[in-house]
Parts: sequence; C-alpha cells; structure tokens
Amino acid sequence: MDITHLIDEAKNGLQDTFGLEATHIAAAPGRVNLIGEHIDYCDGFVLPFALEQNIIIAAKANGTSTVRIASSQGSDPVEIDVSGEIPEAEPKWANYPRGVMQYFREQTSCTLPGFDAYITSNVPSGGGLSSSAAFELATATLLEGLTGIKLDTKTKALLCQKAEHNYAHCPCGIMDQFASAFGEKDRLVMIDCQSGEPTLVPFENPDLTVIVANTCVAHELSDGGYASRRKATEDGLQTIGKSSWRQVSMADVDAAKEQMGDVVYQRSRHVVGEIQRTMGAAKALEANDFDTLGSLMYASHASLRDDFEVSCEELDIMVEIAQSLGKDGGVIGSRMTGGGFGGSTVTLCESSKANSIVAALTNQYTERTGITPEIFLSRPSQGARLL
Ligand code: GLA
Repeated sequence: MDITHLIDEAKNGLQDTFGLEATHIAAAPGRVNLIGEHIDYCDGFVLPFALEQNIIIAAKANGTSTVRIASSQGSDPVEIDVSGEIPEAEPKWANYPRGVMQYFREQTSCTLPGFDAYITSNVPSGGGLSSSAAFELATATLLEGLTGIKLDTKTKALLCQKAEHNYAHCPCGIMDQFASAFGEKDRLVMIDCQSGEPTLVPFENPDLTVIVANTCVAHELSDGGYASRRKATEDGLQTIGKSSWRQVSMADVDAAKEQMGDVVYQRSRHVVGEIQRTMGAAKALEANDFDTLGSLMYASHASLRDDFEVSCEELDIMVEIAQSLGKDGGVIGSRMTGGGFGGSTVTLCESSKANSIVAALTNQYTERTGITPEIFLSRPSQGARLL
C-alpha cells in the first residue's frame, strides 16, 4: 500500500473508531542496513537508510488525560492514563508508545495531553526492518506535534532507544532509531556509533537498486539471542583490555584467543572484521568500486553466519540465490540485514536487472523453502516527520 492510501486509512480509522477528524499525522519509516551489522553497540560504523515503508499515526487531542490507541491490526483500542508515571502493561505492543510517552514527559517536563490515535503501517513486522523503531519514532514525532515541543533529532532518537531498552527489553544499539529519525531521500545514514554522530552519504546513482527480501520467517527473536551476542562482545572487549572496539586490531583478538574461549573469540572476530568491512564499504561506494563493495557484503554475511551465528537457513538460502545469479545476473552483493534469526536480506544490484532478480529470488526461494517471501525494491527515503 502506498503512503497516500496508508494516510487515508489512518484518518478513516480515527474517524470510524473515535469519530474524530485528525489534527496531527506523524510518519516514521523502518530501515534497512547495507552493511555494519551487530556493531552499533560496539562503537562501530553502520550504513543503514530509511525505507519508503512507514508507520503512520493519525491523532487528535481529546481534552482528557487518557490516550486511546487503535490500529489497523484489528486489536481493541488500548487506554493509557498519562496523568502520571506510565508503567509497562499488557498488551505488549502498546509498550512502545508507553515507553516513548514516559521518556518524552521526563525529557521535556511537559504535561502530556490525552489524545485518540489510529495506527497504520506498511513496514513488515517481524521482517527485521525495524518496525518497532518506526513505531517509537512515529509516537515521539506525534508528541512533538501535539505538545508543540520540538526535540532535537538525536535526543528524540535516544529517547526512543531508551523506550526499546526498558519497555521492550531489547538492549539494542542506536542504528534503528537513528536511521528512522535522520533518514533522508537519496541518503544513507552513516553512523559513527562511537561519537554518536550520523553523516548523510549520497546514494542516488540511478543505476543502483537495493532489493529487500523478507524471508518471512522469524526464529527466536528477542528470546535472548540478541542480548547474549551483545554480552559476548562486552566479554571480548574486557578480555582484550581496551576501552573501545575502535582501538582493537585483529592481532589483539588473536592474541587473546586462549583466554576468551571459542565463542567469545568468534564474536570478537566478527566485530573487528565488520568495522573494517563497513569502513571499506563506505570508501568503495564513494569510489563507485562495486566489486569491492559486493565482496564486502558477502564477507559480512559469512561472518554473521559463521562467527556471530545470527543467520539462519532461510537467510542463507536467500543470499545464496542472489550470489548464484552473480555479476552477470546484475547482482553486486547480498547479505542478511538487521538483528538476524530470520527477517530480511539486502541485495545491491544493477537497476536494469532488478526486476528479473526479484523474480529469480522469489521463485527459487519458494521452491527451496516452500515459503513465499516478500520482496521489494527500495530507495532511501525521508525519516520521521509530521505530515
Ligand atoms: C537490531 C538492533 C540494532 C542493531 C541490529 C544489528 O536491529 O535494534 O541496534 O544492533 O539489530 O545490527
């Protein structure tokens, strides 16, 4: 569904559910990451961009201290008392806005207005494309509109990350919220996760297309797989005895191998390699060196599969298919994207061959797994905003 329809659906939803005409509409996109995976919490570099797919919230203040939220997903409206502290509660999905409202209030010392809201989305949920960050950023942006208090973008993204940590219990890095907050049309959001500063990198070559392929499987998810990876990287850094991964070389990792044990060693090797690969990819992109860029993407996938162990059979199959089409088939590079254990792959390809690549990925993936994937072409788009 395109964004105009999505907005109409949100406005109509607000009208049908609460009998209200929307005064504020917020949009925030999901993200895909070209390269730099599982290193945003290791002071690394990451290279995501904001998707064209958004979460939309249409709302109107209701003059009370209760927030009522309904969504096109069909669940009953949730009621949240915003007159004081906003605790976690059931249903789980409403903890994203709960957390964001709580931290918005703390950040700005404002009295939150009650409002009624209706949510629509075309960010595949469970697709590893950060629908949760989109939901957080859409909520924070809506609150800016309703209160008239504009936060600086970084503060807004960090507040949303805090909601994800404490209300959704996922100890994520800053990539998703930054990509959704800072994204711009035709720009990648290169984030230096040590300084916490994003840089917008032009990505507007019409000959290049990004294909996002959702495997439509989600294994384990937040059942501790993510947290245990993060913990292993912390253990690795501690064993090496440096204060940041940015000071660590592969030789440092190798020298600490005995002390670390196999698993922490593998995780550490991924971190150092992925930081180098991401820096290399940014340079290759700038130089239009697509051979190098493609090799780095494949190497990133292999490292996530073998050393970091966050891939899965379906992701590997999707990448294998892309790789087998090869340069002749127009594929530059491919890898899993996001947290892993299912979700999506990102494939960089020649625009002229994009449609045939989508067809081949769809057919061969379905043939090999029995699952119909969700595959779309994507360009960097605008970050969170009021419409
Ligand atoms: C999830 C997290 C991000 C990042 C990625 C892996 O999307 O939310 O912070 O760690 O996984 O790169």
